[in-house]
Amino acid sequence: MNADLETRVAEFAKAYAGQPSELIQALHRVQSELGYVPPAAQAAVARVVGVPLSQVRGVITFYHYFRATPVGRHTLRLCLGTACHVRGADQVLKAIREELGVGLGETSSDGLFTVEGVRCLGACGLAPVMMIDEEVYGKLDPKRTKRILRGYREKAE
Ligand code: FES
Repeated sequence: MNADLETRVAEFAKAYAGQPSELIQALHRVQSELGYVPPAAQAAVARVVGVPLSQVRGVITFYHYFRATPVGRHTLRLCLGTACHVRGADQVLKAIREELGVGLGETSSDGLFTVEGVRCLGACGLAPVMMIDEEVYGKLDPKRTKRILRGYREKAE
């Protein structure tokens, strides 16, 4: 880790130094400052708070709220609720994977999309549904999903 980042992370976590029970609070603070908790920052938090690195990794993995990678420019929320599941959300997810090279909880290598799974977007009549930022896209199939994603990519170029 570069020394500057290490110093910053130590500063963010300082209020929780030597308090293992405050690990989650320390991680919240770091994520609110950096936007995510990269592996190097996880190590710094472990040291300052006084817990094993494996425990920090366990928390990051368990709570979907925490991110170990940067957030993309657009947030893609794919509905995995019952109505969407029944109408082919898994095929939409497969199309997303094929088009972006990432799955749930990940950010595309071009930094354009972070993909998340959600339980219901309140648009069950349009299932399967995804949202990109504030825009709702319904009645998706793999072809249309890929076309939508390509549209965002073209706009970004
Ligand atoms: S189940 Fe997908 S929008 Fe409600």
